[in-house]
Amino acid sequence: MTEMDAFIADLPKVELHVHIEGTFEPELMLAIAARNGLPAPFPSVAQARAAYAFHDLQEFLDLYYRGMNVLLTARDFHDLTLAYLERAHADRVRHAEIFFDPQAHTGRGVALATAMEGICSALDEGLERFGITARLIPNFLRDRDEDDAMACFEACLAHRDRICGFGLDSAERGHPPSKFARVFARVRSEGFHVVAHAGEEGPADYVTQALDLLGAQRIDHGIHAMDDPAVVQRLVDESVVLTVCPLSNVRLRVVPDMAAHPLARMLARGLKVTVNSDDPPYFGGYIGDNYRAAQQALGLDREALIAMAQNAIDGAFVDAERHDLLLSELRLYQAS
Ligand code: ADE
Ligand code: ZN
Repeated sequence: MTEMDAFIADLPKVELHVHIEGTFEPELMLAIAARNGLPAPFPSVAQARAAYAFHDLQEFLDLYYRGMNVLLTARDFHDLTLAYLERAHADRVRHAEIFFDPQAHTGRGVALATAMEGICSALDEGLERFGITARLIPNFLRDRDEDDAMACFEACLAHRDRICGFGLDSAERGHPPSKFARVFARVRSEGFHVVAHAGEEGPADYVTQALDLLGAQRIDHGIHAMDDPAVVQRLVDESVVLTVCPLSNVRLRVVPDMAAHPLARMLARGLKVTVNSDDPPYFGGYIGDNYRAAQQALGLDREALIAMAQNAIDGAFVDAERHDLLLSELRLYQAS
């Protein structure tokens, strides 16, 4: 292990962009399919991994939704979430804000309460065993209509103590943030934070829409903001945190390769970028792997890595006490 790899491994991290259903390792997927008496989504682990070769976001989403169909019971959601937290702990994640797609479960007959019970019992265990604080951010599926999102939001209110905000994900092209202005007004009126995937495959204008029409406080991905200097300037001026997922962008061919990834340029331009994993087994790595891959390809120095880790702390939806504790852990590490 190089000195830089060791530095990244022990860097205290905050993860702000990870989809719990996207952390489904094929080994666990096949085991859960078997115990639920369901046909395996893939004939073998090796064939699952071989299938994780995507030309665009939609090709990935097709497999992502197929894989999660085997999640039926609270135990399934518990095992999925705990497996992520174990990986996160190994990567020295101290706080995580975890995305979750309620409509992808309720739409196939799995009750929201079942999913929440399993996920939350794992979050409790993760806090106790690893000291990882975690909250949930349900995301509305943008390729469904706004009424469906509204029904999802109302159902989520029964679980509001576990939820710090709401987001928008799934197929971006052709589904602009403007479609969801009404539901996010309702989200804000109930006092929740707002995030949105924007500028992943979609244009810089979707980033502007997410800010203006949804009230987004963080932008998930946002890399296409770089196509419009005025949008970049606004994000800088307003200190908007961007949750960038480098391996995801490469594997979904949003960028040609890691050397061409705009992360370093974004940082140099003054954007508050953070490093995250999105859907780790599908894209080839967890948060530490994302830091490592970006560092190697882009030649990021320690100062840049610390800056991105701090951006994640500053962008987290935590109270002042937790913020200061996370920051002091980072400062201690920096000085060590
Ligand atoms: N759902 C899971 N991963 C996603 C991504 N990268 N973009 C949009 N929706 C998603
Ligand atoms: Zn995502």
